[in-house]
Amino acid sequence: MTDIKSYIENQASLISTRLEQVLDINVDNVVTDAMKYSVKNGGKRIRPFLTLEFAKACNGNLNVALDFGCAVEMIHTYSLIHDDLPCMDNDDMRRGKPSCHKAFGEANALLAGDALLTEAFALLIESNCDNDIPNENIVNAVWFLSQLSGISGMIGGQTLDLEFEETKPTVEQILKMYTLKTGALIASSCVLGCLSAKEYNQQKIDSATKYAENLGLAFQIQDDILDITSDEVTLGKPVGSDEKNDKSTIVKFFGLEKAKEMVNEYTQKAIDALDGIDGDTTTLKEFALYMANRTH
Ligand code: IPE
Ligand code: IPE
Ligand code: MG
Ligand code: MG
Ligand code: MG
Repeated sequence: MTDIKSYIENQASLISTRLEQVLDINVDNVVTDAMKYSVKNGGKRIRPFLTLEFAKACNGNLNVALDFGCAVEMIHTYSLIHDDLPCMDNDDMRRGKPSCHKAFGEANALLAGDALLTEAFALLIESNCDNDIPNENIVNAVWFLSQLSGISGMIGGQTLDLEFEETKPTVEQILKMYTLKTGALIASSCVLGCLSAKEYNQQKIDSATKYAENLGLAFQIQDDILDITSDEVTLGKPVGSDEKNDKSTIVKFFGLEKAKEMVNEYTQKAIDALDGIDGDTTTLKEFALYMANRTH
């Protein structure tokens, strides 16, 4: 496990270096500063990590995959900036620093999120400037990322998350909300890793999606557990946010012990889904297990 931990950290620093280059935007204004502040501000970088690992398992182009992963990370960061706004979760800390709106004001935070979203799609197009892979793959990457981050994916899940502050959902509805708000973006990471290979097939995309959906469920349940059991310094974001906002979570529904069991069950399902990928998936298995026991 120590090995996977340091491997994840090494990959995160490679990803962060590329993100700095990508965000070296030649526009000098406060919203550009807010974008850089939020993206450069740490984060585990698990989504681009997954893009690179699926690229490796599928014999993909790693330069293209790095940019695909950075595009997902930009959308993820935008989702966090908006998620923290007073009109959503109203949280003042993110990644160990004041949230974007605390540092730059609400309007600039809103615009920084919007700008990261649009720049992410530009990056997908630019990722293939050397024509390393067929442009058809780029078209598919744009399609998957737009669908999985939009109203049928992450935004759809965030919509349910807000709705369920008011209504009492069933456990199936909570899991559906998690699959959308968290699983969908993780699925985009994994699928885009497959799409960085000249040749890919539906079976690989299906396996990547299944792995990601189960990993996403485990990941969000663990996030909800840590919201109760951890502390702000370790997490880099406030604890007790779900209670404060009257969120409907699996932990609230079943309690901590059963929630922990569910994290382990979904992790095992994620690992089983890797049978559909014929490349080496050892790291993806170790990663899922490591994430199930993460502390931040
Ligand atoms: C936080 O995601 C939001 C959820 C989907 C639970 P991460 O835990 O990946 O946040 P960072 O990127 O490491 O800050
Ligand atoms: C995931 O849920 C949010 C997104 C999809 C952006 P949370 O609201 O629980 O995420 P944290 O705990 O604020 O990181
Ligand atoms: Mg939220
Ligand atoms: Mg939140
Ligand atoms: Mg949370």
